Amino acid sequence: MADIVLLGAPGAGKGTQAERLVEWLSIPRISSGDLFRAAISAGTELGLRAKGFIDRGELVPDEVTIGMVAERLAQPDCADGVIFDGFPRTVAQAEVLDDLLADMGRQVDIVADIRVAEDELLRRLGGRWTCRNCGRVYHREFSPEKVRGVCDVCGGELYQRDDDTPETQKRRIQVYLEQTAPLQDYYASKGLLAEVDGEQDIAGGFEGLKQ
Ligand code: AP5
Ligand code: MG
Repeated sequence: MADIVLLGAPGAGKGTQAERLVEWLSIPRISSGDLFRAAISAGTELGLRAKGFIDRGELVPDEVTIGMVAERLAQPDCADGVIFDGFPRTVAQAEVLDDLLADMGRQVDIVADIRVAEDELLRRLGGRWTCRNCGRVYHREFSPEKVRGVCDVCGGELYQRDDDTPETQKRRIQVYLEQTAPLQDYYASKGLLAEVDGEQDIAGGFEGLKQ
């Protein structure tokens, strides 16, 4: 049983490494960004509430985000641990996650803080294509799909996210530094922060774990 938080700026590789961890550990991943995108394409009320914030590169308010993640965490497949990708993103979210896990007799076991310089983040976000069907991410240069525009895994159509315009990418990085980076201190003070060198290639992944 393990509950793992992936921390890192937009484009750091949270989704990419989360997919690999899901295979290694056989526990599910909760990606708050993917949950929002699914709600938006399904046209639900949650999706409508979240869309404006996401398109502007702002965080969706805590009360909306926390309710959505808590509902997902309560599902039976999450009973043996979860990889959290993109949640928590504020200290308030981190405190609620501690409470939710404590109610289940669990706790955050480790926080992998994936560190990547800003110019590399922008290079990664600029070349990212995502499967509309299964959410798998590709990069035109660094990890291309086999058949242009088609997901290797499920055959779905690849698209570029609406929030991957140059302007919104920069805003998301700024929001990360202002609102999410303080979680480094939050988790370091609990002895849970493990720094990962995110500048290695995808396969290098967690070999950069420094502690
Ligand atoms: P979210 O979907 O979480 O986006 P993000 O944080 O901006 O992160 P990304 O998904 O852009 O990057 P990633 O780290 O997953 O990188 P990836 O693996 O794709 O959130 C979107 C929005 O939803 C937020 O802006 C906010 O509005 C809202 N939201 C979500 N969670 C929220 C929360 N908790 N609270 C409030 N609001 C919330 O990799 C990027 C690219 O690089 C890919 O093309 C990949 O192939 C490539 N790549 C990855 N690793 C490597 C490598 N090592 N070498 C070369 N290329 C690589
Ligand atoms: Mg992601």
